[in-house]
This record gives sequence, C-alpha cells and structure tokens, in this order.
Amino acid sequence: MKHMFLKLTLGLLLITAPFACKQASSSKKAVTDTVEQRAERLLEQMTLKEKIGQMTQICFSEVTETRDKTLRLDEELFREVIAQYQVGSFLSGTGNAAEWKQFLEKVQKTAVEESRLGIPLLIAIDHVHGSNYIDEGTIFPHNILMSCSFDTSLMARAARVTARETAPLGLSWNFAPVMDLGKNPYWPRFYETFGEDPLVCGAMGAAFVRAYQAESKKFPSQSFACGKHFIGYSDPETGWDRTPADVSDQTMAEYFMPAFQQAIDAGLQTMMVNSGEVNGRPVHASKRLLDDLLRKRMNFEGVVVTDIKDIQKLVSMHGSAANLKEAVYHAVHAGIDMNMACSSFDFITHLNELVEEGRITEARIDRSVKRILALKIRLGLMEQATPDEAHASAIGAASHKTIAEQAAAESMVLLKNQDASLPLGGDVQKIGLAGFAAHSKRLLNGPWTYEWMGAKEERNPEDMPTIYTAMQEEFPKKEIRHLQVPDFTSSKEKAAFKQKAGACDALVITVGEELYSEFKGNIENLRIGEEHRKLVALAAETNTPVAVILIEGRPRVINDIHENANAILFAGYPGIRGGTAIAGLLSGRHMPSGKLSFSYPSSVGHFTNYYRKKSQTYDPLYAFGHGLSYTEFAYSNLQLSDTLIQDAETPVKARVTVTNTGDRDAKETVLWYIRDEVGQITRPMKMLKKFEKALIPAGESKTFTFEFIPGETLSYPDGTGEMLLEKGAFRLMVKGHEEKFYYR
Ligand code: BGC
Repeated sequence: MKHMFLKLTLGLLLITAPFACKQASSSKKAVTDTVEQRAERLLEQMTLKEKIGQMTQICFSEVTETRDKTLRLDEELFREVIAQYQVGSFLSGTGNAAEWKQFLEKVQKTAVEESRLGIPLLIAIDHVHGSNYIDEGTIFPHNILMSCSFDTSLMARAARVTARETAPLGLSWNFAPVMDLGKNPYWPRFYETFGEDPLVCGAMGAAFVRAYQAESKKFPSQSFACGKHFIGYSDPETGWDRTPADVSDQTMAEYFMPAFQQAIDAGLQTMMVNSGEVNGRPVHASKRLLDDLLRKRMNFEGVVVTDIKDIQKLVSMHGSAANLKEAVYHAVHAGIDMNMACSSFDFITHLNELVEEGRITEARIDRSVKRILALKIRLGLMEQATPDEAHASAIGAASHKTIAEQAAAESMVLLKNQDASLPLGGDVQKIGLAGFAAHSKRLLNGPWTYEWMGAKEERNPEDMPTIYTAMQEEFPKKEIRHLQVPDFTSSKEKAAFKQKAGACDALVITVGEELYSEFKGNIENLRIGEEHRKLVALAAETNTPVAVILIEGRPRVINDIHENANAILFAGYPGIRGGTAIAGLLSGRHMPSGKLSFSYPSSVGHFTNYYRKKSQTYDPLYAFGHGLSYTEFAYSNLQLSDTLIQDAETPVKARVTVTNTGDRDAKETVLWYIRDEVGQITRPMKMLKKFEKALIPAGESKTFTFEFIPGETLSYPDGTGEMLLEKGAFRLMVKGHEEKFYYR
C-alpha cells in the first residue's frame, strides 16, 4: 500500500511539475531508471543537430531586448534561437530576484515548448563570492580573503548561503570555485583564488563544492559547482591574464593538480578550461591535459566546458588553428563537452559538418551529450526547471548577512599593530577617516558584483554600510570625521588636510586598488598607486596614529606605507558587510584571526612563494601565515611520537600546546609544516601539511595534534605522478618550534 502511494505521488509530481521535460513526463519508466539509463534513452531519440545544440552555451545578452545582461527577454528572438539551434545552455544576467524569476520562467517554458524533446536549459551564472548577480544577494569576501580565514567550516557556511540564494531561482550551474593557485601576485585574477598553498586552496575549494552541492540538494531544482580554470592558468610568464605559461610536469603534479584533485574528490561534476596556453599548447586544444590528465589520470567523469568564446580564440588569440572549423575539431578532439560560444552559432554548423565528413564520429558527440544530459537529470531539471518561489524568499536574509560579516571579520589579516594602536581605545574620541574606499560600497563588494567589473556606486544596495557609516554605528559616542583626500598639487589643500587630521586622536586611511576583472587588471608595476602612498605619508606627518586598511585584490607593494603606518589591516574585497567587519575589528568587537594565505611581497620584481627552493631567497614584507591578534599565543611542548620512523604505514603523532596569554578569547590557526631535507627532485624549504583553527579562551591552553602516515605525508609526486618516498632527515615545524626526525 505504501509503495503504491509513493508511485502515485511521483506520477502526480511529474504531471504537475511546471514545464517538466516532455520525454521524462511521458514515460513512467524515467522515474525508476538510473541517471545513465535515462540519459541514454533520451540520447537515442535525438538527431545530430539536437545533440550539438546541447553542447552549445549562449550568453543571455544575445537574446535580451537591450542586448546586454538586463533581464528583459526578446521573446521572439529567443523562440527563434531555440527552434533553430536547440541550444542546451545559457549563461549570465543581472537583476533582482523577481526579475530573475520571471525571466527564467519564461526561458525554460519556451525552451521546453519550442524544442521537440522538451529538454530544459542548463542556466549558468558566476556566483563567485555569494549570489553576486542578484540585487538582494549576500555578497561574501572574494576568495583570496576567504582563504585567509583558514577555516573550511566558515567557507562551507558561505557556500551554503550561496546555494540557498542560487538554486531556488533555477540557476543550476555555478561557475565557482576557482581552483587556480594564487602564486603570482601580478596575475589580475589573484583575488579569485584561495592563495598560494595547494593544501589550503584544495581544502577551501573542496569545502565549497561539498557544502554548495549538498545544500542545493534541498531544493527541487539543484545547482552544481564548476571548478575552474583547468589547469596551469594562474602563473603566466608575464603575470598578465591569458598569456603563455610554461609549467613543468613536476610543478603540475606537485603544485597545480592537488587542489583540482581535492575538488574532484569532493564531488565536482563540471570543469571549465583554462583560456591560456600551457607549454606552447592552448589548453582548449590539449588532449594531453583534458583527456590524458583530467579524465584518465585524475578520474574526472563530469562535463568539461570551455571558457568564454575560447574555441574561437584558438584562431584569433592563439593562432593554433587556421580557421574556426579546425579550432572546433581541435577542441572536440581534445575533450571539451560544451562550448561557451556565447555569441556565435558557427560552432553548431562546423561540428555538424565535421561529423558528416567523418572527421569526428557521432559516438564522440554522444559521449559529451550523454554527460550533459546526465547532469541535467541529476540536477532534477527534468522534474523542475523553473524557479521555486517558496524558497527564493530567503535571498539576502538577515541571517545570511550575519554570516557575511563573520566571514569578512574572521578573514581580515592584521599585518601590523605597533604599540597596540588597535583596537581603538577609550582615549580616542575623534577618528579621522580618509582614502578612496572610506565611503564606498562598490569598493568593498569588489568586482564580479552585479556587473563583471563591479557596479556603479548607485547600483549597490541602499542599506549596505560603507566603512564610514559602519564606523558611525560602531562608535556612537565618538566623532567620525570623513576627511577628503587633498589634491596633492595644492599645498593649501595638503595643509588643510594635515590640520584636520592632526586634530584627530586616530586616523583610519583606506588605500588599495580600483576594481578590475581578468585582463582589465593587467599592470606593469605592483607598487601601490602614488596617491595612496602620499596620503599615508601626509597622515603620518601629523603624528596622529595611523591605521591603514588595504582594499585590494592582490598584494600591492606597500613598503613605505608599512613604515608610515602604526597598524595595517589587509581587507581584500570584503563584501556586503565588509564595512561592518572593519568597524568591528577597529573597535575590538571582532578579534582579528586571519592569516595570510599568500606571501606579501616586499619588491615589485622579485617574489617567491613560501615553498621556495633551497637556492632561492624568501624576503617578503609579510610571510605566508603571518597575522596578528589582539592577544598573544605562546607555543610550547612540541612533541613527536617517534623521531626514528621505521615504516611507511604506522601513523606518527605530533602535538603542541598553544596558550592564549592575553585577557581576551581569540581564535588561532595552527600551521604544521614539514621540510624534507634532501630530495632527488629538489624539495621546498617547507610545505604546509595541516592547518587547524580553534578558539582558545583567555588564559587557557589547547593541545593541537597532527597525525600523519609517513608513506603519504612524506612522499611527493614526480612529474609522471609516481609517488616518491625517500629515506633521510625531515623537520616538523610549527610557529618557531621544530623537531628533527628520520625515516630509515
Ligand atoms: C571567465 C570565467 C567565467 C566566464 C563566464 C570568463 O571570461 O574567465 O571565469 O566563468 O567568463 O562568465
């Protein structure tokens, strides 16, 4: 009886679900079949043209009335596009939740009605730091700041909020997380990464994938993550976006692959390809990277999507194919499943021809299409493709904003705090606030917020606090003076600024960089802009203590600012509650607990990652892992269970005691490193093996442990992926303490 009820309910669901897939709803069998079988049966009914349509992704900006990302559909054109090309996927748009809902209802209804098999569309969005393309959305810090939290559970909370604000609208494919390693501070996409360390990068990305996808399962229409940009994208020789990178097999295996692998192992089902070239071959045409490495060596079974217009770019940008038809041949041969063609339908024509000419087999097309159909089935799109009104109301909820504030506060890094000038004490009555980001929302939210390059000030939410308004709220009894940045060519203005600043008890100066995305952020000089340096120098002349807030996407060189400031806080692009988090850190309501997930360079031309080789010097302004608190932590009693390790399998245990010697509860991140003293393939001077963040109450001690299997933790991959475990001396290191041990 119970069984029968279940069957009936399912039947009813299929019939009543709005715009449910015609094929799926017409067959009861679809419910009981496996995903694979359902995809297979759908595939069997498809013409070649329909299949290639599924492999094509078009930008919504091609079919809106204004031909931009505004959500007003040109219905007639859209109908034509679906009828003529049977396009399977669309991407990008920006607007409020109600506009999204109406828009997506219309497009899914049309897609189902105008296509023979009624397969819903896969709708993609770049929600890379919260639901950043929805007006009411919760905007989290960009990844580089999130990774400074060294807290995967915080990352998971942020990911769950993003899923809750993305999946119910029917945005079923999120082009996040970025799994590229932030190795090169010149690279303009540095802020999209989780920093320079493969372990941190992989752990944060995997936490995002797991939490985002698990949370989205709670909704009738789910949403999947997409890892990007596979692989070797982030360290181009010139530092500029989409320029050639030479990546040795060794670097690939040891530094670039692990983060992607962690995300795959966490259940990543889709992957976007690196737009650049690696070792002379554009990745979009590299069978070696997309097939041999990604599919065979890394066991990735999901959908591989190109980056935007990147098959076309094999001709126009790389010159690796003579014309678009050849480029299509190369990319499909290399292993792409879907082409983010965006604005052109030529891919469809060329791929059709290539199959008809026998250069690409239909079996090859089927493999890609089956993956895409399986993805749609797994997402639940066949049952419900339209927005889910009941849940969409949680978008931008107050509880979500609280998590955004926590994420920002626990990620920001206190780089310097001379004479404990922060938090601002009771003797500070007048605070002067100045600099480019003092009263700005867009600079806190950063790029990829409402617009690709970040939106105009007016487009940001009315009720979003700036640093200025947040400080007014935070310090109701103090006077906050917003000081205008002087024109540095006018000695009168400079003198006036100095006079006003000098009358304050403390100065808070915001410095950093303007917003940029991708190649728009290519720079010739890593040094922070001159006007920012002059402002801090002028402020320092007053002898009033200066706290500098860095609002920037990458570590711009700030040596003179470091000299001139009493305190420095790295705030990245902190998001919608960034202002409140900064004010809370200045007042001491929040305790700083972020640590650098990257090395802050001291020079514009020479920088090394912390995992430098013996022959390299490491002289950053602030090292990887640096970050101060308003309390002090004392490390003691480092112990290792065995200093003579005899076998590769028996776990080795280490422990260290950390005492909060101050009078305030605070969180500390313990970073465990290992150095392999000698290696046939030269070894880094140290490599992070575990990180753990925990609250330690004032005056109390906590024991942190690190347990490792020698065969796993002490071995390293060679370029072919073979793991090498060499006998010899090692060093375990944790915050200024170390213990030597031997593997014999
Ligand atoms: C970026 C991707 C992004 C895509 C779609 C490209 O320019 O490289 O990261 O997902 O656009 O917006």
